[in-house]
Amino acid sequence: MQIKKHLYSFTYDNTERELCHLESRAVFNQEEENKLIFSDIKIAPSSSAFIKSRLDISLFSENYASLIQAIKKEKISIEGFKVEYLVIKGDTTEYKQRLEKLKDIGYSIEGDPDYYHPTITYALCNYGGIWFFGVLIKDKFDWQKHQKKPCSYSNSININTAKALVNIAGNADQEKTLLDACCGAGTIMLEACFSEKKIEGCDINWKLCRDARRNIAHFNYSATIYRSDIKDISKRYDAAIIDLPYNLLSAATDKDIKHIIESSSAITDRLVIVSTTDITKIIEEIDFQISDYCIVPKKGNLKFVRKIWVCEKVG
Ligand SMILES: C[S@@+](CC[C@H](N)C(=O)[O-])C[C@H]1O[C@@H](n2cnc3c(N)ncnc32)[C@H](O)[C@@H]1O
Repeated sequence: MQIKKHLYSFTYDNTERELCHLESRAVFNQEEENKLIFSDIKIAPSSSAFIKSRLDISLFSENYASLIQAIKKEKISIEGFKVEYLVIKGDTTEYKQRLEKLKDIGYSIEGDPDYYHPTITYALCNYGGIWFFGVLIKDKFDWQKHQKKPCSYSNSININTAKALVNIAGNADQEKTLLDACCGAGTIMLEACFSEKKIEGCDINWKLCRDARRNIAHFNYSATIYRSDIKDISKRYDAAIIDLPYNLLSAATDKDIKHIIESSSAITDRLVIVSTTDITKIIEEIDFQISDYCIVPKKGNLKFVRKIWVCEKVG
């Protein structure tokens, strides 16, 4: 097994499986397997709705006693540490043995542990017969505060999908410039701002622009929102996210859909489009190609399916 710097653990339900895979292809160039990914790419777990934790691997060994020796050799001295055992699929170590191992590690670190308010969390796990040790960074779910944004609409995209769209559009590259071309109340923008991505928004509806600005300001973020038809935006972006109008609150004809996609394609070479209908013909017509795709059924209404299309400019 080729050892990488980080081990990511994932969580998702059946309706989000495809979306999680699309996000991991965009971010890690691979899909998670057994809800795990080993990668040298470093991202904050809280930037994705599907990453539970990231283990920054500092030591590993096939031999458990050697790993403990290696930990002792590090002479780690820290107050308020905690050690957790990450149970990974295929690891048959029983609960009692796991506790013993946590004690072994605890006694190898100098300082008093603090289970409830740790200053740092270490973790041990076994995968494929290899023992891994390192610092564990967990998703703190603080982004869930966005569920209580001051202005919301029933047609706003859900927060997990919003986070995934940001990662898919920007490949988790902090430097990429993103546009939320039909930003509505700013659900996608909030997730981008939380992860400190470079994002701007645009919406033709002034009330929605006002609400998006309120939402952004409420959480002390800052991002520009243009009250504009997307056709009038001339600034270029590395990628644009388009959550197309699809229901009563934001009804749109086929002509409107084509207009939005076509106008966005003039200012970027990468589009991440959310639609409820098939847009393949439009993508061909604007000289883009579909490089990735998934469907996301709505929780509680599996008949309502959102399609997510990743499209790149041809040539
Ligand atoms: C499905 S909603 C977006 C919802 C948004 N993602 C959210 O979570 O609040 C689609 C949005 O597209 C906007 N829109 C429609 N035509 C547009 C155009 N030509 N240029 C910019 N925005 C447009 C609508 O005002 C509407 O807010």
